[in-house]
Amino acid sequence: MLRLEDAGAGVAEGADPAFLVDVLAGLAQERKAIPARWFYDRRGSELFEDITRLPEYYPTRVETALLSERCEEVGRIVGAGRAVVEFGSGSSLKTPRLLSCVSAAAYVPIDISGDFLRDSAAGLAEKFPGLAVLPVEANFMQPVTLPLAVKTLPKLGFFPGSTIGNLVPRSGVNLLRDMIATLGIGSTLLIGMDRVKDPDVLIRAYDDAAGVTAAFNLNLLHRINRELGADIPVEGFSHRAVWNETWSRIEMHLVANRALSFTIAGRSFALAAGETIHTENSHKYSPRSARQLLAAGGWTPLREWSDADGMFSLILAEARPEPSAP
Ligand code: AVI
Repeated sequence: MLRLEDAGAGVAEGADPAFLVDVLAGLAQERKAIPARWFYDRRGSELFEDITRLPEYYPTRVETALLSERCEEVGRIVGAGRAVVEFGSGSSLKTPRLLSCVSAAAYVPIDISGDFLRDSAAGLAEKFPGLAVLPVEANFMQPVTLPLAVKTLPKLGFFPGSTIGNLVPRSGVNLLRDMIATLGIGSTLLIGMDRVKDPDVLIRAYDDAAGVTAAFNLNLLHRINRELGADIPVEGFSHRAVWNETWSRIEMHLVANRALSFTIAGRSFALAAGETIHTENSHKYSPRSARQLLAAGGWTPLREWSDADGMFSLILAEARPEPSAP
């Protein structure tokens, strides 16, 4: 395991050692890649919020409208008095509507970023004076211990935004299983999953005319320079979004416009012209592949909703006990 003190000059104090490990390991591979979770420093989170308002980026708009239309139906199915547990709550923009529709007894936002979490939890507590708002600062990619106060309440997990799509299927299934470990058998989950569609529409959503997604992707290199003592020539890279038909996903890459060399924490790296760093996958699902992923993770779909154009889906699923064969 690499330790920050061994890593060489220039690493900023307070830099996350896991960031350094992921970047050094990812760039040492033949096919260079850096996990997408490192996009979200403060600037990256702001740029992501900007993306959600772009005309080309339909997921947020369509999901918000779907949630608004179907919210009362969700409330009727799950019943009142649940603890709503939101995974990766971020700024919790979609949450107020859900909380009122399901007459929630408590709200537990889970996020790794404490700043974001505290701000949005405080805002929600103000909006819903009678509601117990119990934020948990944790990595939801592992089972999370929920506050004692919600132990005996029935749970409704909330995982909007098609964030599941940023995981390869193996990791997605692990996460879904960890959610059952967190919430318990018998719990329900409301999850947003983006649909397969015309690749041109998808490419435009991930390579917008105003260049916001490009700035979001390139910000990762600025972050490496700032936090990991690197001298990456950011202007030598371009943003690329491509549709991978085999894996049914949009991939984001950073492409070297020319032969490039740079150092990170005292280590040297080189990219040939045209070589890429793979920075994100965003999987898109058919109704069937969405169900299969959920079932593999232990969740049985109860209801599925989509907009009239089939752009995005919201699925309500239940964690049932493991069935016996067949
Ligand atoms: C957070 N996640 C669901 C977004 C997506 O659509 O995959 C991240 C994103 N990347 C580029 N644009 C948006």
